[in-house]
Amino acid sequence: MKKLGVLTAGGDAPGMNAAIRAAVRTALSYGLEVAGIERGYGGLYEKAFLKLDSRSVSGIINKSGTFLKTKRFPQFKEKDVREKCRRNLAEEGVEGLVVIGGDGSARGAYALSSDFDFPAALIPASIDNDIYGTDFTVGFDTAVNTAVSAVDNIRDTATSHERTFVVEVMGREKGNLAIEVAVACGAEIVIVPEIKMEGEKVVRLLKEQEMKGKASSIIILAEGAGKAEELTAFLQKEFPEKQIRYSVLGYIQRGGSPTYLTRVLAAQFGKAAVETLMEGKYPFMVGIRGSEIVRVPLKRVVSCSKLMPYGHLDIINRMAI
Ligand code: F6P
Repeated sequence: MKKLGVLTAGGDAPGMNAAIRAAVRTALSYGLEVAGIERGYGGLYEKAFLKLDSRSVSGIINKSGTFLKTKRFPQFKEKDVREKCRRNLAEEGVEGLVVIGGDGSARGAYALSSDFDFPAALIPASIDNDIYGTDFTVGFDTAVNTAVSAVDNIRDTATSHERTFVVEVMGREKGNLAIEVAVACGAEIVIVPEIKMEGEKVVRLLKEQEMKGKASSIIILAEGAGKAEELTAFLQKEFPEKQIRYSVLGYIQRGGSPTYLTRVLAAQFGKAAVETLMEGKYPFMVGIRGSEIVRVPLKRVVSCSKLMPYGHLDIINRMAI
């Protein structure tokens, strides 16, 4: 392999830049040329290639977002679109591709690689931490820390005014982010897409907590499990004497300088992804299990589902007394 391509796809996540830097510099250190592809699979289709050298990735290790830009590009599901992308890669002389992104990007990398026997490696990067085969994705630790610090601030008002707060965090399909945030900030209740929780159950839990002397509570709600505004309106009707408020954390969770854990993971993954391709092994995702960097076949990644840490629920329930 003489030339490697690198792109970021899907939702941005803190640490994507650090992962680009690691992949680019690893490839350069082995004497490869590197092409950056702008705007993810969209840029692959539009042939938005950039020559990258070591200086192109200077000063980005601490910057969130992705300097290569990213976008959602559902058209990549079409085989004729992927065919054009494959042709563009060939015309640019790119012989291997590092994709940095989440579950949709994993499906894209797998399809491209299996359709055309093209070497591709995935670096899992998403604030959702919902990708099978890795304990952590690049960006998750930063997003959890950002959300925890926001909830800590909200807790100050909740305690001072004896109010109940519903805090909506990201996570359209999975509750991995919500449940981690809930444990870390001592939330009394967590509501995730994986487990249906009717408003009546929330009412019952709040009543139980009130009877135990709790004057304020924090409810963490994953966006895929409902809308904070609606749940708050429902609870306010049920508890007219209480002051119930809500906050939607939204995109603040996707930005912010990456934590050291995110940066280290990005560096480990960037190096491992390039080395995997150089050994002629594809299509793989690089991941971490315990403290070990592992390679997981992309076929498994796209066909298996990562479970939320269900054990956390028991912690949250036992702590909310
Ligand atoms: O996949 C990361 C994520 O932030 C989800 O938690 C969220 O539901 C989604 O992206 C939002 O994506 P977009 O910004 O494209 O609407």
